[in-house]
Amino acid sequence: MLIAGNWKMNPPTLAEAEALGRALRLAPPTPATLLVCPPFTALASLAALLRGTRIGLGAQNCAATPDAGAHTGEISAAMLRDLGASHVILGHSERRADQAESDALIRAKIAAARAHGLIPIVCVGETADQRRAGQAESIVAAQLAASLPDDFAGIIAYEPIWAIGTGLTPSAADVTAMHAALHADLAARFGARAEAMPILYGGSVKPGNAADLLALPHVGGALVGGASLNAADFLAIAAAG
Ligand code: PGA
Repeated sequence: MLIAGNWKMNPPTLAEAEALGRALRLAPPTPATLLVCPPFTALASLAALLRGTRIGLGAQNCAATPDAGAHTGEISAAMLRDLGASHVILGHSERRADQAESDALIRAKIAAARAHGLIPIVCVGETADQRRAGQAESIVAAQLAASLPDDFAGIIAYEPIWAIGTGLTPSAADVTAMHAALHADLAARFGARAEAMPILYGGSVKPGNAADLLALPHVGGALVGGASLNAADFLAIAAAG
């Protein structure tokens, strides 16, 4: 089980990010692996704060260009590795929507991440309209097919867009069906290597629903947004894994 916290563009100050990191350092041992993904500006501080703990560090994005150079405003996978990050979230629906990230761009970012030894956490998910229209599985399958390079190794996160930050979650049957479909797609494309590609669930994971969601078949962990900004909630979710 991997329980990953996606802090998004939070908290507003470095002092608050450090306070959250210090609270997480008190995490009691859990069988689940813990990962926090703060904003770029807090990565160096969090790397220092979490050194020697069981909590890993990830970023929320990286450049598609693997190497240093003339790319104003970009942060490379190599820079993230240098700061101590092991993982990077790529293709989150907020970036697909707000930054117009395409499957092709996400595929290039995955290649850049892997070139520098970062483990990508690749997000896929459907809108409410797409689910109502019965297209959830085909949309997600298309995102998966187009986003992953042929030599993919890493983690998938299924995050229904309508469940993110809304307090809504899909039914156990819907999560089970989607994760089974994703697992089958990965197995069809990557063969036995698919067994080493955990599929996280994300979207309104809270202490109250984590145990039920994490118990479902082919759910290899959770990508947690809002609840990861509260140390007690994040650690309660981790304990449920
Ligand atoms: P949420 O966000 O837990 O606040 O719904 C999840 C995510 O966007 O990764």
